[in-house]
Amino acid sequence: MTMATHPFDALMNITARPPTVFVRGEGSYLWDDTGKRYLDFIQGWAVNCLGHSPPEVAEALAEQAKLLLTPSPAFYNGPSLKLAKALTDHSCFDQVFFTNSGAEANEGAIKLARKYGALHKNGAYEIITFEGAFHGRTLATMSASGKKAFEPLFEPKVSGFPKGKLNDLASVKRLINDNTVGVMLEPIQGEAGVWPATDQFLRELRTLTKAHGLLLIFDEIQTGMGRTGKLFHYEHAGIEPDIMTLGKGIGGGVPLAALLATDAASCFEHGDQGGTFNGNPLRSLRKRVKMACCSTRRSRTRCGSCRRSTSHGKKSPR
Ligand SMILES: Cc1ncc(COP(=O)(O)O)c(C=O)c1O
Repeated sequence: MTMATHPFDALMNITARPPTVFVRGEGSYLWDDTGKRYLDFIQGWAVNCLGHSPPEVAEALAEQAKLLLTPSPAFYNGPSLKLAKALTDHSCFDQVFFTNSGAEANEGAIKLARKYGALHKNGAYEIITFEGAFHGRTLATMSASGKKAFEPLFEPKVSGFPKGKLNDLASVKRLINDNTVGVMLEPIQGEAGVWPATDQFLRELRTLTKAHGLLLIFDEIQTGMGRTGKLFHYEHAGIEPDIMTLGKGIGGGVPLAALLATDAASCFEHGDQGGTFNGNPLRSLRKRVKMACCSTRRSRTRCGSCRRSTSHGKKSPR
């Protein structure tokens, strides 16, 4: 098929794209349909943590595809149980809900916080987020985002997301009131231009949220899975959030994201949360997280099939 014959008009025109059609990827490279090779610095938008089509992922997917694609979310499946266990073994969290995109994971985090507010904080529902933040493109996550370009879009937005300033604790303090249930942030703002929250700010935020009984929610969709030198960015500050979301690299190229919570914050009841493809076995192959763990922790810990890290008090060596 030549470029001239590609039916470009059949796709919704949601962004400017070059008229190049990619047909193959391997490691750091992409090939288009004319056979031209490109060195790819985008890697699926920070998704292919092991490069394009790593053989381990491709083989695991093919193996699983022959065994079981989707038994329905009404039943357990082995890969999602194992991946959830691997994530809780390697983090400060106790429970996981798998989603299909980062925005859906953040939407779940917002719902979980609101549920927590309904159960434990007299219906408090406001989540303080930050100027410049990016949390996704569902209506609620666009509302939680602090991206200027989103402001005029799709009004009316979902209410309940007052905005503080990153690294300015006083700006957060000023927004706390009886309706506040949590604070949500990217530990490094990505879309805004790579603005890190300082470790000191993250520690102070943890102290402040604890003092007010608020949930601290980390959006680690960009920073998680080893992208900042530790498996999760919160480890750099030596604190433990109540809720965390992961996406991008967790799937190694396959659409997978996750909402993680501590036992204390994990308060969904039957019917509150779900979705047809959530926790689908094809995407939940534990191998991916195991590989990411091994690559990021190799130097200082034992991991995966080796022996897992014991950096979190609740864990014991396998
Ligand atoms: C920090 C952060 N949160 C959420 C998202 C949304 O993830 P997704 O595009 O998978 O919905 C992104 C995507 O770039 C992100 O960078």
